[in-house]
Amino acid sequence: MTQIPRAAVIGNPISHSLSPKLHGHWLQRYGLQGEYSAIQVTEDDLEKTLRDLPKRGFIGANVTLPHKVSVMQFADQITDRATLIGAANTLIFKDDGRIFADNTDGYGFMANLRQGAPAWDPKAGPAAIFGAGGAARAIIVALADAGVPEIILSNRTRPKSEALKSDFGARIRVVDWVQAGKMLTDATTVINTTSLGMKGAQEFKVPLDDLQPDAVVTDIVYNPLQTDFLKSAAAAGCVTVDGLGMLLHQGVPGFERWFGKRPEVDELTRRAVLA
Ligand code: ATR
Repeated sequence: MTQIPRAAVIGNPISHSLSPKLHGHWLQRYGLQGEYSAIQVTEDDLEKTLRDLPKRGFIGANVTLPHKVSVMQFADQITDRATLIGAANTLIFKDDGRIFADNTDGYGFMANLRQGAPAWDPKAGPAAIFGAGGAARAIIVALADAGVPEIILSNRTRPKSEALKSDFGARIRVVDWVQAGKMLTDATTVINTTSLGMKGAQEFKVPLDDLQPDAVVTDIVYNPLQTDFLKSAAAAGCVTVDGLGMLLHQGVPGFERWFGKRPEVDELTRRAVLA
């Protein structure tokens, strides 16, 4: 008897994760045999869990906070993009227990932006990024890959933006957080990668007066879907793309590898995850 393929998302905390709904929706939609669960794993238990999962019939996993960086040390093979980002969010367990690690966050970001703003041209001008955390790293790699001519970065803690500049090089310009609004004067792509504006977090307060109406503006925060940041951008005439699609699209490569079908991200997917 062949076993039902099983995958999971591992993190801590994990109860808020939308990934089980997402993968559950796709499994049901395509009538595929498979299971996808959420497993809470502490830092101390991470290695043991990764060694156990393949023995329990798991063929892969998504990795979320706080394990995206530490999981790399247990991987036997790492994709170039995960190496460049320094973190992994998608694992494939080989039959012999070896672990293959990838990072699909940048892919998810880009696929969401292209789907939500089909006319977006990465080469049209600089991209302005608020924030310099893990999500910003993945997004910078994706933007540079897409041919964005310059990336302007501003973060509350300036040394973190400087570190990204030294990791990713010459195309990055760092702007002080108190001057962050000034990044917008010639930016044609504008991204909030901070947690500001998320339900329960502080408001996004950087002045957006210099936002250009031809800029495409996106937020990685998806709760609420329409953040104040996106509302202000829409009021300024910008095309806006909400952050939910990044989460949905980042799940596509993993699902395809584990369950053998490249899944769609569309209105049906969004509704299933938001239900
Ligand atoms: P992620 O992996 O999702 O990017 P993270 O690494 O914790 O998460 O990064 C969160 C980002 O939100 C950081 O850029 C953080 O700024 P700091 O590096 O200064 O911490 C930013 N952020 C969080 N709360 C903030 C606040 N109140 N004001 C400004 N930036 C904030």
